[in-house]
Amino acid sequence: MQVNGKHYRTIWLSDDHRTVRIIDQRKLPFEFIIENISSLAEMATAIRDMHLRGAGLIGAAAGFGMFLAVLESSDMSQIKKAAELLKSTRPTAVNLSYAVDLQLKALTNTIESDRLAKSLEIAQSIADKDAEQCRLIGAQGVEIIKSLSLAKKGKRVNILTHCNAGWLAFVDYGSALSPIYEAQARGIDVHVYVDETRPRNQGARLTAWELGQQGIPHTIIADNTGGHLMQHAQVDMVIVGADRVAANGDVANKIGTYLKALAANDNKVPFYVAFPSTTRDMKTIDGVRDIEIEERSGEEVRKIEAWYKNEIVEVQLCPDDSPAVNFGFDVTPARLITAWITEDGIQKI
Ligand code: MRU
Repeated sequence: MQVNGKHYRTIWLSDDHRTVRIIDQRKLPFEFIIENISSLAEMATAIRDMHLRGAGLIGAAAGFGMFLAVLESSDMSQIKKAAELLKSTRPTAVNLSYAVDLQLKALTNTIESDRLAKSLEIAQSIADKDAEQCRLIGAQGVEIIKSLSLAKKGKRVNILTHCNAGWLAFVDYGSALSPIYEAQARGIDVHVYVDETRPRNQGARLTAWELGQQGIPHTIIADNTGGHLMQHAQVDMVIVGADRVAANGDVANKIGTYLKALAANDNKVPFYVAFPSTTRDMKTIDGVRDIEIEERSGEEVRKIEAWYKNEIVEVQLCPDDSPAVNFGFDVTPARLITAWITEDGIQKI
């Protein structure tokens, strides 16, 4: 995708073949900073502290994290410890354990002298596959937007999205935003309502920035606004991403997604979930019951970051001694989902 007219992926290997480069998402939209990651420990911190985030990108980062681990030691017992460390960073997005397990399996079956080359090959292939799957999600999902546009006789299609499931959350293209980018490329008139997505504001900070870079008309809304807009026929469809899709079709996504699905259901607004097939987790039987929900520091709720006098500052929003709880995700039951959009097509639920 384009940043100031230049194509970027969200993660790549630098020319020295020892350093992984990422866009530091903690600084967006205020500053565009590339961060160098040159050790396993730095990659684990980058994932845990959300220098990068989003299910697909976390998976790609874990793949490169395993490569950095092999650079440090090609001994299998060390590699297994690295796998455990990476898996412990964030529990909900299944793409992370998918990538780590893929690396572990391949490295176990590779002689020690070949492990470095093998881990790089796997890391690159995880990243390339993610980008290609997301490109295809766009090609599949645009058909839904096209139908809505035809039904509206070419009038603007209004789409609501939650959090950031754009290219910043993957290696390129994104999941929920990929069909929107494809619609724009085909000349379909689209407009996006962007949930701000408290507490970390991935919508207001990242999705709005991404859409702006791509020239897509959009409007940021407070998280509580979607229901009102849907009641007044201002939303033609909702499209969100996913961090884990259970065997029964339930979907874990950023906290607040479930409430949007309820409002969409009540107002007969179609509710789509876009994700690459690597986000499907057949080992988790019942999403609401079984998906582990990441709990982050309550400080993310009690405080908010803002751009003030050319720097990011943090301000407190509540009384000094009021505690806060911070669940990172919720689970939307399959019955509230109109269809999934994956690289393989549109699947009605
Ligand atoms: O906590 P984050 O920012 O890593 O949240 C994950 C997400 O990006 C969203 O839940 C998104 O909608 C899923 S699609 C990558």
